[in-house]
Amino acid sequence: MLPKIDFTTTNAYKYLVDHYIDLNKHSLKDLFAQDADRFEKFSVQFADILVDYSKNRINDETKALLIQLARECQLDEAIKAMFSGDAINETEGRPVLHTALRNRRNKPVLVDGQDVMPQINEVLAQMKAFCEQIHSGSWKGFTGKAITDVVNIGIGGSDLGPVMVTEALKPYKTHLNSHFVSNVDGTHIAEVLKKVDPETTLFLIASKTFTTQETMANANSAKDWFLAAGATQADVAKHFAALSTNASSVAEFGIDTNNMFAFWDWVGGRYSLWSAIGLSIALSIGFDHFEELLAGAHETDVHFQETDFEENIPVILALLGVWYNNFFQSESHAILPYDQYLHRFAAYFQQGDMESNGKYVDRNGNRVDYETGPIIWGEPGTNGQHAFYQLIHQGTKLIPCDFIAPAVSHNPIGNHHTLLLSNFFAQTEALMNGKEEDVVVAELQKAGKSEAEIEKLKAFKVFEGNRPSNSFLIKKITPHTLGALIALYEHKIFVQGVIWNIFSFDQWGVELGKQLANQILPELNTEENVTSHDSSTNGLINQYKNWR
Ligand code: F6P
Repeated sequence: MLPKIDFTTTNAYKYLVDHYIDLNKHSLKDLFAQDADRFEKFSVQFADILVDYSKNRINDETKALLIQLARECQLDEAIKAMFSGDAINETEGRPVLHTALRNRRNKPVLVDGQDVMPQINEVLAQMKAFCEQIHSGSWKGFTGKAITDVVNIGIGGSDLGPVMVTEALKPYKTHLNSHFVSNVDGTHIAEVLKKVDPETTLFLIASKTFTTQETMANANSAKDWFLAAGATQADVAKHFAALSTNASSVAEFGIDTNNMFAFWDWVGGRYSLWSAIGLSIALSIGFDHFEELLAGAHETDVHFQETDFEENIPVILALLGVWYNNFFQSESHAILPYDQYLHRFAAYFQQGDMESNGKYVDRNGNRVDYETGPIIWGEPGTNGQHAFYQLIHQGTKLIPCDFIAPAVSHNPIGNHHTLLLSNFFAQTEALMNGKEEDVVVAELQKAGKSEAEIEKLKAFKVFEGNRPSNSFLIKKITPHTLGALIALYEHKIFVQGVIWNIFSFDQWGVELGKQLANQILPELNTEENVTSHDSSTNGLINQYKNWR
């Protein structure tokens, strides 16, 4: 079980309240001027990733107090509880063991007294053998042709991770083309089906529960399309595989359970890319690379378990997030990868973070009276610079940012990467230092502006600066470094959930909308006007019926 401590009652929290007032008197620029060792002190290198957190509004005392906060919240015990298979997902009565899926040391992990490693390794072996057959072309479709296209049908955690990693690791792509269908909007599957050939396409139906409305609707439409192309029910086995925990529903759907890749209820949907849900990744980049991804994540798991909090990257990142969220009252956190291949990274952690820590009830069942999970958002740089960075630089909101960039590009064309990286370095510096009035005035004078014009313009051109960021400089985005990076974020989210005293591994908040949609669905299948809802919902439904 996880400890159930209200972090606002700790001594550290009380000290931090006072310390916040003191620290706020110093700008980031001052803090750098006061301490020549600031970068050495506030950066950590790990698994070919340099994490520089020196451009945060902290000093030694802040860090010490935040670590004290983690200790008072019994973070040590919480980490042990997660890795050892305690049922820390209390509201669903389940352990949380995505870390076992990438436990490359194979150290036994017990659930109800049973080591789960043999079953994990068995599914990995099944995935490997399947990948070999598909990649070599020995697996034949219903007309004897080899598979050329893989369509993953899933949503949420059964889609976002596979999409994000497949995109991030495109340089490692095998000859197979990957496609993803998630939205129940028929447009999504219709557009994908236009691109593929039923004779050479493999569908992976990815659903932990195998009951999710969107996924089942898309899976049924894919099967209808396949059968309409002249295939028989018996041919389904050659073109459909299931990634799920629910064998009976898989069989009921008509998929041969030999083509089912299992995982277990102790794998959360948004933490499932390491499980059989990762089959689309393994097919896309090759099984060896998938294993490298697992190995990178495992390296982070070891770091997280064994490193002192002072040097522990997920712990530090989490505490910085708490600092901004609960003291500076920042509402959001931006993730800004300077790598086009990482274009779905922020979207992936929107689910990872917001579905985990978007909770207002604490672990004692009480309404919290403090802020919990932030809004996560972001887009790749430099596109974001020409879209929303204005608000980060000169808006009224404090938005802590994570800047992520590889030192080595997979596409070293001309000077593109140097241009990209010059922007990466410039942005964090600009956010921190800003631009003072005397500099603005000097620039305007140099540009030949009159005194009156300078007076009129200068306020708009000043940048206050003092805006915090973390920089992640990664040697190169490889399966290994990406695995390590994803796991750093996962553990950051876990640590924040521990501090905020919430349950990070359930997601009851998505249920109400699903329930109501199921109630409304039969009402949409009749012609009569509805009167059973509020006037707005009735009005919308009835106008829809009128227009459709
Ligand atoms: O949206 C809620 C959710 O349960 C997510 O947590 C999950 O990732 C997604 O639905 C998909 O669920 P499943 O894999 O069971 O289809």
